[in-house]
Parts: sequence; C-alpha cells; structure tokens
Amino acid sequence: MKAEELQQIKENIAEGHFPQWAVTDPEIYELEQEKIFGRTWLFLGHESELKEPGSFITRMMADDPILLQKSKNGEIKAFLNSCTHRGTRLCTEDYGNKKTHTCPYHGWSYNLDGELIGIVAGNKVYGEKMDKSEWGLRPVPRVESYQGMIFGSFDPNAMSLEEYLGEMKWYFDIMLGRSDGGMEVRGLPQRWVVKANWKMTSENFEADPYHVQTTHRSAVEMKLTPTDPLYASYGHQVVLSNGHGINVITSATGKSANKYQGMPESMWPMFEKNLNKEQLDVFSKVTNFVGGVFPNLSFLSSCSGSEGTRHNHLQFRVWRPIGPDKVEVWVWYMIDKALPEEYKEKSYKGFLATFGAAGTLEQDDTENLARIVEASQGRMARDRKLSYNNVANYLMGLDHIEPDEHFPGPGIAYPTCYTDHVARSMHQYWLELITKESGVKVGEY
Ligand code: FES
Ligand SMILES: [Fe+2]
Repeated sequence: MKAEELQQIKENIAEGHFPQWAVTDPEIYELEQEKIFGRTWLFLGHESELKEPGSFITRMMADDPILLQKSKNGEIKAFLNSCTHRGTRLCTEDYGNKKTHTCPYHGWSYNLDGELIGIVAGNKVYGEKMDKSEWGLRPVPRVESYQGMIFGSFDPNAMSLEEYLGEMKWYFDIMLGRSDGGMEVRGLPQRWVVKANWKMTSENFEADPYHVQTTHRSAVEMKLTPTDPLYASYGHQVVLSNGHGINVITSATGKSANKYQGMPESMWPMFEKNLNKEQLDVFSKVTNFVGGVFPNLSFLSSCSGSEGTRHNHLQFRVWRPIGPDKVEVWVWYMIDKALPEEYKEKSYKGFLATFGAAGTLEQDDTENLARIVEASQGRMARDRKLSYNNVANYLMGLDHIEPDEHFPGPGIAYPTCYTDHVARSMHQYWLELITKESGVKVGEY
C-alpha cells in the first residue's frame, strides 16, 4: 500500500468521507488482518458456555481455529486448535466435555492444560530424546474476561482487556451485570456466511440506527415498530474510546414505555442493588441498546415481540472476516440467569422470529450489505484516484450537533442516534491501527 493512498484515505476520513475502493480492497484487507485482527481483542465466547472442568467449545479468531476449555481447577484456557504433530485440526466438534483430546490423524493426545500426554507407540518410535513437554498445544498469547465475556488477543503486548474496553465497561455492566448470577448463553451460537465486508456489518450495528426506518420497513408495516420516521433517532449516540460505540435509544418522550426494557418487576430490586444511580437512570429509559466493540463484536439488547408479547433479550454477534467481501456471522443469544424459565422461553422465541438466520429483520440487513459489496467492485467504485467522486458519505452531524453534557454515562454523547459520530470515530481508529509504522501520522480531526 502506497503512503499517498493512506494519506488520501486520511484526508477523506477527516472530511467525513470514506473512499469506496478501500472497503473491499485486498491490500487493505491484508493490512487489517495484520494490524487490526492481529493486535486487538477478539471475542471468543461467554463463560456460561464452559460449565465444568473438561467443557470445551471450538471457535475462530480471524482465521485461526481455537479450542477453549476449562481445566481441572476451573481456569479457562485457549489453544490453537491444531495438533502439534502435523498440524491437523485437533478437536472437530463444536462443543462437549472431555478429559483429553485425541488427534484423529495419528492419535496423539492432550490433557485439559494442553500438555501432550500420549503418543501412539511412544518411545518405541521416538526414542527417549523427544521431550513431550515441548510439544504441548500452542496457547493463545492473551485470554481475559470481563462480565463473563471471554476475549483473546494474538498480541502478547496488547493493553489489558479492561483498558481496551474502557468506557464500554460501564454499559456492559448494565447489560451483563445487572442481575444476580449474570447472563447465560442459550443454545449454541448460530452461524452462517454472508457476502459482506466486516467494516460495514460492524457499522450497521454500532453506528447506524438511521437505516432502521427504511431497511426494516416491513417491521413498520407489520406494526412491530413505530411509524414515526425518527423513532430510532431518539436517545443518544455515544462515542467511546478505541473505536467502540453505543446507541442508547429511547422514544420521543425520552423515556421507554416499559421501564427496564420490560423486564418483570420481580427483577427490579436486583437491578437497583447491582447498578449505580446513573446506570439505573439510563437503563430505566432505554428501549434498545445497540452498539459494538471494535473491531467486529456487535450487540443488541431489545424488546422483541412474538405472539403478541414483548420480551427483552440480548444478542452478541461476531462478524468474522473470511475475505474482503465475505463474513462469517456468529450470533449468541443471552438472557439473565435469574429470570423465570417461562420468560426465557418466550424471549428466545422473540429473538428467533426477528434475528438469527431465519429472523425477519436479519434478512433486511443482509441484502443491503451484500449489495454494497456488489456495487463496490466495478471500475468506478474501485478507482483509487477517486476520479468519479467514489466516496461514501459520513457527513451526518459533522458540524452541527454538540455533545450533551448532561448525559449520565461515560463517553461523548450526542443527543440523537441519527448521526455519523460513531462511524467517523470507527474510521479514525481503523486508520490509526492500519497506518501504525507506515509513516502516515493520524492526528485529531
Ligand atoms: S497430526 Fe495429530 S497426531 Fe499426527
Ligand atoms: Fe438492521
């Protein structure tokens, strides 16, 4: 990548533009893999997915298959899911419980700490010289959790997860730490592949309530959502550190029709015990939280309807890039452990009806995101000199919306969710990461 091209991107981002060629450019994709996915914190799963010693799940961190398991003393360990003999995938299942993992190729086996403990025909074929302790599974360099959310990083020198999440922790505490016992994942994460670029899918959740009224028009027509064209704009869009962001969506009155997102009153004393005054203020008024942790973890906490009732649910999703124009979507459904089983069941149905592979709202987004990729592949959109004014528009709220000093949560809060502040901050952080060591300096704008 030429320095002038990075410079051009920088100038465009500063003006609220994003060069269209850079969305799915293969060279940019390589830079992203190395400097973003190779260095930041990537979401792996939730602690409730690993219930007892021996529990394991298999996941992906960018292109690396990962085996996550709970050791004998309850520690969560993450390894490259690749046998140290010839490198085939060691564990081929999605989840389960085992004391040892035995490789399907030549039968080497590993314990819950990743140590190589068994070799077929052992010393007879390897002699005494080969030291088994040197051939254990290769650990992911950093694994840390916050509120049960497990993340990994390939970079041994990455800042701590808590520092990386920064101001987002305050909002995670509301969504994940409000009730006693925390959250639990129900079922397995759903996953499927879509034609889309990971930056666009992340932006769609973290930074773009503006699409809701048009893209999800059918939900309005089915009377699942209000007809007011501004309905997803009410509330605050909050720019957080390190490219993270959240939309705290309320209603025209600044309040929600259902306090605490319609959660049963029996849960309220718990919320009031576990959250502080400012968090309760935000939580009591919010209808939807929708946001993201840079680079590719998104979340939505909403009230979805099924069979005439509405129930809160929380979903987390990873947009795993598997090429410049392809994403593997992973979606986790989470719910408060302390809720009655009947509520959980109804909430899960509401989630399945709207999101997930068969959800009505899901498909609306996917169509548009696939078409961005399709429309960005021709001569005009690909032109690196921008001769055709081939830039995307991120001008919303650029110079006429001031932050709301009275918003009780951390971050820079703008008094509307129809603004591109979070998108521009994502672009700025993205650029900062991909230009590290490139000679292009990224300043404030
Ligand atoms: S590749 Fe695993 S034992 Fe040979
Ligand atoms: Fe959407």
